[in-house]
Amino acid sequence: MSPIHDLRSYLTRLEQAGKLHRITQPVALKHELANVAATLARQGYGAALFERAGEAVWPVFAGAVVDPEMAALALNCNLNEVTATMGRALDPANGLDPAPVATDEAAWRANILTGDDIDLRALPIPTHGQHDGGPFITGGVTVSRDPISGRGNLSYNRMQVLGPRTLGFNVNEWRDTMQFYQHQQAQDKPLEIAIAIGLDPAIMIAAGCRSDEDELRIAGAIRGRGVPVCQGATVEVMIPAQAEIVIEGRLPPHKRHAEGPLAEFHGYYGELWQSPVFEVTAICHRDQPIYQTIVPGAEEHIYLGNVLPREPLLLRFVRHVSHNVTGLHIPPYGNGFSALVQIEKSNPGEPKNVALAAMTAHVNIKKVIVVGPDVNIYDPADVLWALTNRVDWSRDIFTVPGAQGHEMDPTADARGVHTKIGIDATYKPERRDYGERIRYPDVDVSAYL
Ligand SMILES: Cc1cc2nc3c(=O)[nH]c(=O)nc-3n(C[C@H](O)[C@H](O)[C@H](O)COP(=O)(O)O)c2cc1C
Repeated sequence: MSPIHDLRSYLTRLEQAGKLHRITQPVALKHELANVAATLARQGYGAALFERAGEAVWPVFAGAVVDPEMAALALNCNLNEVTATMGRALDPANGLDPAPVATDEAAWRANILTGDDIDLRALPIPTHGQHDGGPFITGGVTVSRDPISGRGNLSYNRMQVLGPRTLGFNVNEWRDTMQFYQHQQAQDKPLEIAIAIGLDPAIMIAAGCRSDEDELRIAGAIRGRGVPVCQGATVEVMIPAQAEIVIEGRLPPHKRHAEGPLAEFHGYYGELWQSPVFEVTAICHRDQPIYQTIVPGAEEHIYLGNVLPREPLLLRFVRHVSHNVTGLHIPPYGNGFSALVQIEKSNPGEPKNVALAAMTAHVNIKKVIVVGPDVNIYDPADVLWALTNRVDWSRDIFTVPGAQGHEMDPTADARGVHTKIGIDATYKPERRDYGERIRYPDVDVSAYL
């Protein structure tokens, strides 16, 4: 199998695995494209390449990493190795610096549009959710540079199209990108940034991680070689050389504009934000580029932001209190607020200790369900079975009222104060012995159909 090094080589890998679906019929950019992509992801089909999206001549790709199998494909490992592979990639000792290449080696430098030739409305930017405020770039990776140390940085920032050369740029106050912007703003200077679209999924995964170093080092660790980067055409930022499309520009100081609402990670629509404005200085692209999008508030958003970056730390926390942990998962349907831990317990109190450890692994985690080794943590129906048949609600749960969570948790107050819950859903034969669970092992049905 040839190695994944850009979006196109990943599409080949997805197609070989039956996880890429080419949609050849015309699909509207407004709502229809996101509805089709979300349905494919939800029903286990995987990703979609829309060959005729709206009026655009460029195809649109959606759903790069929407389920555990695709995470394994993107990371080039087995399904049961995803957490360990991410753990290795996140260890700064394994990080690999990006590798600068000459400008003529950057695929996206084939076409560089500046000045009056820039028109964002020519790009196939979808309006995803029914109540989104308009078309948003959601699958672009923001590439920036720390103005003090000079190190590079990756992040995701939703961007609403406000005009032919202007985007609303959403950035929370505690992000690195915001720190860089505020530093520049204090000196009345703009922050130069670039948006890279259509990428090797290693870069997409790295961009969802928080690091004090350049997140491109994480992508380098995933691939075992430094990511090739090249100088921007109009900005002083080192940009992944194999991107399909690059939008360059600057965030001028002290300028704000309303943007939103957009489907958020918790499953509701967000509010209008007064966000920095992104003034575009160049649109660069390969010949016949592929535009990439992420359906906001759905599986991929959660996988990249809450599942892959956080499972390794969760594993460290629960292994610290128990060597009997046999698996764990932060399920995308729990939008990063839930954790599932599987253990082969050796003490009746162990599941509760494990739950306590899990809820401190990340501030967002508020519900921890601990199950036994015979429950499939990747199957919500099996987890629900364990909750129904193995939990005595007066004895097997504990709550932690007044704990800190995410301020956008719909059950929390405005400062994110909420109640956490730990649930021991393991089998307790000492209370009542039910013997073995009914099992009908999986067979390859294609041999019978
Ligand atoms: C799909 C996706 C969309 C995101 N959108 C935003 C956003 O609009 N604004 C924001 O501040 N963070 C957003 N995030 C979270 C940050 O991009 C992410 O936490 C990143 O690690 C922050 O990097 P930084 O601290 O290096 O800037 C998003 C994350 C994902 C996975």
